[in-house]
Amino acid sequence: GSLLKIGVIPGDGVGPEVIEASLAILEKVARQDGIEYTLEHFNLGGERYLATGDVLPQDDLDRLRRCDVILLGAVGHPGVAPGVLEKGILLKLRFDFHQYVNLRPIRLYPGAPTPIRGKGPDDIDMVVVRENNEDLYVGAGGFTYKGTPEEVAIQTSINTRAGVERCIRYAFEAARARASRGPFHGLSDDDKRKGFVRQLTLVAKTNVLTFAHDLWMRAFTETSRDYPDVKCDYQHVDACCMRMVTNPERFDVIVTTNMFGDIITDLGAVLQGGMGLASSGNLNPDKTAPSMFEPVHGSAPDIAGQGIANPLAAILSTAMMLDHVGAGKSAERIRRAVASVLARPTPKTPDLGGKNTTAEVGNAVRDALD
Ligand code: NAD
Ligand code: IPM
Ligand code: MN
Repeated sequence: GSLLKIGVIPGDGVGPEVIEASLAILEKVARQDGIEYTLEHFNLGGERYLATGDVLPQDDLDRLRRCDVILLGAVGHPGVAPGVLEKGILLKLRFDFHQYVNLRPIRLYPGAPTPIRGKGPDDIDMVVVRENNEDLYVGAGGFTYKGTPEEVAIQTSINTRAGVERCIRYAFEAARARASRGPFHGLSDDDKRKGFVRQLTLVAKTNVLTFAHDLWMRAFTETSRDYPDVKCDYQHVDACCMRMVTNPERFDVIVTTNMFGDIITDLGAVLQGGMGLASSGNLNPDKTAPSMFEPVHGSAPDIAGQGIANPLAAILSTAMMLDHVGAGKSAERIRRAVASVLARPTPKTPDLGGKNTTAEVGNAVRDALD
């Protein structure tokens, strides 16, 4: 095939540890499946910032833009003020590269320890389509009278009709695409008679955010006319959190705002066995700039440097990257290898109740690729 150029940002904390494990998997699967690629490494994150003051210089940004896809570990450093690296690197890339969808599957693999009693892999199998370019994340606002008793801080949620609609349209397409696995099991016979095959839940807060989420609801309803096969569903975000725990099987595809999507996908990570298992893709569906794949978790400073971070979230994000570049079979082979490792008692990292290292789990996945 043609040469794939992968930008790699290991980043901070456990980022480099889980990326190292992921690159070993990529190397083997690519060799086996005949995928030709080159890696371009980027030294970005807390260490470089503290040494040089650089966050994301123009030259790095230009070189990242020339990559086909990007694989990122995590950014965030205990010695750097909150937001400097997160906004300056992660959010900057998501915005500049028009990665307007953050796709976050929530899927329980057999053997992964969900804390949800009585629920299994058939019950916990949904995907969150998180809007990734707007809302509270744009950084609109500021302070008045900062540092005084009269201080006011304003941070505005921006919701454009075009930005919301393209994300919702992506989510309807994602729901429709899941029809290839058969109909959503949460549909009633009546739903099926009406021609519904899958379900899309809008998660918002229309009862309070009567401007922003009114726009979301209208965009949702109007876009739904093009998708008569997808059942439209709505949940307020607070009730959504409750039901993700009590009735995870009622969710198929969720579409939501940037901020709510951030929050509910950490909850979703727990449903599937913890932060060590949750994968994501920041997608530019129009392919006008690279998409970026990263675990949902952060730099985990509490366990960094010990070699015990769970690499599976990053490895599953690498699989999502392969899906995105059209190597779906290789992606599926990685997921099968991860599933086979999770199905055994060992090796497991401490977050999954085991005593093994990042490298031992990574090696087991690599061996399972045979
Ligand atoms: P975190 O996700 O880093 O850690 C939360 C908890 O999950 C910690 O107890 C951690 O040990 C555990 N954990 C995370 N990843 C794990 C893994 N692979 N294996 C085992 N356990 C794991 O969230 P936080 O502590 O709130 O944030 C730490 C830093 O990371 C902050 O600077 C934050 O801004 C940043 N952050 C970055 C990203 C990103 O780069 N995408 C995402 C979230 C947070
Ligand atoms: C995530 C992270 C980021 C977010 C932070 C680090 C900016 O929490 O990817 O979920 O809020 O999107
Ligand atoms: Mn988050």
